[in-house]
Amino acid sequence: MCGIFAYKGSRDNAPEIVFEGLKKLEYRGYDSWGVTWKKNDGSISLQKQIGKISEASKEGIIDEKSHLAMSHTRWATHGGVTQKNAHPHLSSGGKVAVIHNGIIENYEEFKKRLGFERFRSETDTEVISELIEEYMKDLNFEEATKKVAKELKGRYAFIAMATGENRIIAARRGSPLILGVKEGEYFLASDIPAFLQFTRDVNYLDDEQMVVIDDKPRFYDLLTDSEIEKRLVTIDWNPQEAEKGDFDHFMLKEIMDQKETIIRAIDQNEEAILKIAEYIKNAKGVFLSGCGTGGKVCMAAEYFFSVVANRHVNFAPASEFPIYHHFLIPESLLIVVSQSGETADVLEAMHVAKEKGAKVLSLVNVQGSTVARYSDFSLLINAGPEKAVASTKAATSQLALLLLIAHAVAGKLQDGKKLLIETASQINDMLNPRFLTYIKEVADDIVHSDHTYIIGKAANYPMALEAAIKIQEVSYIHAEGFPAGELKHGPIALVSPGTPCISLIAEDEVKGDIINNTIELKARGAHIIGVAPFRHESFDHWIRVPDAGVASPIVNVIPIQLLAYYLSVLRGCNPDMPRNLAKSVTVK
Ligand code: F6R
Repeated sequence: MCGIFAYKGSRDNAPEIVFEGLKKLEYRGYDSWGVTWKKNDGSISLQKQIGKISEASKEGIIDEKSHLAMSHTRWATHGGVTQKNAHPHLSSGGKVAVIHNGIIENYEEFKKRLGFERFRSETDTEVISELIEEYMKDLNFEEATKKVAKELKGRYAFIAMATGENRIIAARRGSPLILGVKEGEYFLASDIPAFLQFTRDVNYLDDEQMVVIDDKPRFYDLLTDSEIEKRLVTIDWNPQEAEKGDFDHFMLKEIMDQKETIIRAIDQNEEAILKIAEYIKNAKGVFLSGCGTGGKVCMAAEYFFSVVANRHVNFAPASEFPIYHHFLIPESLLIVVSQSGETADVLEAMHVAKEKGAKVLSLVNVQGSTVARYSDFSLLINAGPEKAVASTKAATSQLALLLLIAHAVAGKLQDGKKLLIETASQINDMLNPRFLTYIKEVADDIVHSDHTYIIGKAANYPMALEAAIKIQEVSYIHAEGFPAGELKHGPIALVSPGTPCISLIAEDEVKGDIINNTIELKARGAHIIGVAPFRHESFDHWIRVPDAGVASPIVNVIPIQLLAYYLSVLRGCNPDMPRNLAKSVTVK
């Protein structure tokens, strides 16, 4: 949530660099944006506007010459979407500019202390620039910023610059902050794509750390007040992976990436997988947790562990997980699933588990993310950058890796690999132009419906929930997923003639039951879209998927990702940037 990006270096077009780089972070928030830079005379210039950075004009920025600039794209938390509330925030004396991602919990206390009349926005962030300016009456820029970072409560990654200063200073607690390093150039950002075209060498800042970028960076531990060394890490994403190429939207590109990403997800060090399997077998209580799509993946994995490995694991959404702390002991294992590796609720769940001495295994997509670094064991799903807000390829990669681990627990790692390699090849075949055209026709048929219901059973029940999230978030059609057998206990009352109902069916032991439930819907006049490896007379549309055995959730969810995408486009929405949402949810 919120993207921040700053540049300091030898190039003299810093304002343009941060303006362009910010576009790569737009998925983090897109209600307003702003850019600030240091002018030749040492003063600070600033531009901020409501709207999306991708639609903004560079006028007044592109020609500005500076070696130091910062930019921000906002997902509003405190204060509405107004120009005043957009970042950067310049202190009332005009000396300090700040960009921030996170929530400052004690901002009201500071506003009261400094005097409400000093503040021009409704944001929590403005206290940072005001406080630094205030403390600079007695301290230098670095000392003042350090003092502020220590006093703030809540989660933050902020970057500050000051008039007459040739350095930028940043600090983090709970929100991501990464320093990209290139000979004589420094890029500070919430996420790597902002500077991927310049460098792949990075320093990850950890919580309670601060960096002062002068001629070169100096890192500090805010807790011990001491200077520290940081390791330079080379990340293996390439800039092309973070671009949408010939595709109209990132969401479509990322759906199509699934031709390759399943294979990448299961291409893991076998020894590590076997070690994790052993850990799962020996753990006293295994829990799965994640948010949104990641949570639905965990729910499906409950079935994988049960069916494949005869092992009981418990799922709880990360936002609900803390309440289960009574069940956690040092021998427990928590498995968390997170694409971004920055989701606040996931981090909180991990914190609760760790406080009880339990171990945490994470599956993440973003190398070096907070979740990855906070885990006892971490596996990368290797899906490459996922930029569309709606998670697609990350979800199927997470499913594939958890299914592989379930096979390893059952002592059948090679069988799992074989199944998933076969599934990946089936997906490659399925995602052909004819298939896409057909899904678009289905979307065309239901695009004017106000409601859509999706049913699934066993591991396809969580996929029905996931399908609903996809349709809701990008097309704004009311969509709900149900366990197929629950319809007759209430939800079937919602169905009237013509209501689109999607059945996610597999060639499995529950196939007969879900077909009966589909027929029951048909009998009430529902318009049935069957996603199945076989045709059935109840289907008005048949979306043919391969028979993937226990991997059926992976192949069944992909057509619904496409359906959601086409519904979004047909309704004139932007699938990459759904309203009210942001890609990385770093607030609780
Ligand atoms: C939905 C979606 C979200 C995320 C959720 C968790 O399409 O993308 O529901 O799955 O916000 O995010 P991560 O996986 O980054 O922890």
